[in-house]
Amino acid sequence: MNVVFAASEAVPFSKTGGLADVVGALPRALVELGHNVTVYLPHYKQTKLPEAKPVLSSVTIPFDDQYRFCSVLGGGKQSGVQFYFIDYPSFFERDGLYGLSTGDYPDNAERFAMFSRAVLEASKILGVPDVFHCHDWQTALIPILLRTNYVADPAFKYVPVVFTVHNIGYQGLFSPDVLPLLGLPWELFTINRLEFFGKVNFLKGALVYSDYITTVSKKYSQEIQTAEYGFGLEGVLRARAGTVTGILNGVDYQEWSPERDKFIATRYSPENGDLSGKLLCKKDLLAEFGLHDVDPKLPVVGVVSRFVAQKGFDLIAQVADRLAREPLILVALGNGDKEYEDLFKRLHTAFPTKFAVKVGYDNALAHKIEAGADMFLMPSHYEPCGLNQIYSLKYGTVPVVRATGGLDDTIESWDPKTKKGTGFKFQEYTGEALLECIRNAWHAYADREGWEVLMRNAMKKDFSWSSSAKEYVRVYERAKQARAG
Ligand code: ADP
Ligand code: GLC
Repeated sequence: MNVVFAASEAVPFSKTGGLADVVGALPRALVELGHNVTVYLPHYKQTKLPEAKPVLSSVTIPFDDQYRFCSVLGGGKQSGVQFYFIDYPSFFERDGLYGLSTGDYPDNAERFAMFSRAVLEASKILGVPDVFHCHDWQTALIPILLRTNYVADPAFKYVPVVFTVHNIGYQGLFSPDVLPLLGLPWELFTINRLEFFGKVNFLKGALVYSDYITTVSKKYSQEIQTAEYGFGLEGVLRARAGTVTGILNGVDYQEWSPERDKFIATRYSPENGDLSGKLLCKKDLLAEFGLHDVDPKLPVVGVVSRFVAQKGFDLIAQVADRLAREPLILVALGNGDKEYEDLFKRLHTAFPTKFAVKVGYDNALAHKIEAGADMFLMPSHYEPCGLNQIYSLKYGTVPVVRATGGLDDTIESWDPKTKKGTGFKFQEYTGEALLECIRNAWHAYADREGWEVLMRNAMKKDFSWSSSAKEYVRVYERAKQARAG
């Protein structure tokens, strides 16, 4: 099957979060199953592309006031996956992918409309696929355009769209004025299409017009059909429930495993009896955070995250004083909302030997935390899949998570009696529940023999992409059949 991916970020070219990991790895897994995959990405200032060659020098994109002309750069093949980049410097040659710390770019509707339309136009020249696989609101205009402006185009008549929701909290909400600006018909501005409380909602349009909808864990596929987690789109999803599936993200173990990791102090594997390599990684991590005089026997709890409300750090704020009295050290790496950056900085100032933070984006340090911490904390309010807890399992870094979305689907609660399980979970979204869960983890940590069994249980877990990639292929086939009528 020929599959075209359209997405706003992918490893190794551009990344702000887990979407990039997924779009970097799933195409490769599909190629290994014998499919042809082409990935389209925007060509950002950050895109690492040593020898970019234009394959299409001019693609015309109509806007209401003028035509704009972008080009398409060839990124060559990587592990059998073909990459193309939409190049339009005044939209993409910027310091952030979606905005700066002060907020989103005001022209994001135009930026990603240009990208989506360019993918359709380029596909007509470079290859019309059997299926488009689009990701998140930035590519929502692909299914919308295909069934409106492009509905009479014979090239796309039988080409379905599978749309993956990585995070329903980001919808692409814009003023209705963008419709004429982007050349979209006003008839889209109704409650059963793109209208959403007086605004245009790109993601809603994708949920209406795509042939199949997937999301990144089974539990999240159910959660987003409820008012608590649906961000107002639960009704749209329920109306399309028959086309909604949850497919758990896989992990690229070439990048994320203690046996191969090129960023960590020393490599280790469950085979070397006492896992002593992990202790070296822990010392290295403490040194990275300037924690030289702490007791290395204390458990280190790691955090690597975008600092946004979704991730649940307000729970840490609720119980920070008591957490600081627990026998543990918390090290955090993240960036995003100032509120959470300040929270961690304040905690460090108040309790310098208990809380340490690095504000920023640092891939090497993310790997060092996965390897050097004893526990990995993800108290998310909601979590579509979550990748760091799955990486943590492989590093024997025991996840402590809130039981939501993919966190609930991937972590099994440790039972000290049966010695089964891979981590610790709490249900209620409260600081108290978080604190109790961390205390349980600490008690388990104090029993060294039990803890080693727990670490080994975690390290044995396999979330590689191959089985999830097969599930995607089944959805592509269903979508093709549905469109063929
Ligand atoms: P989300 O996509 O919601 O941010 P995921 O758990 O799916 O959450 O994926 C996050 C990805 O981004 C992981 O690969 C993680 O290591 C990485 N990441 C997040 N924040 C940072 C950071 N500050 N520095 C380095 N890597 C980060
Ligand atoms: C989103 C989600 C995260 C998920 C990632 C990749 O950013 O917040 O839970 O793992 O996408 O699907």
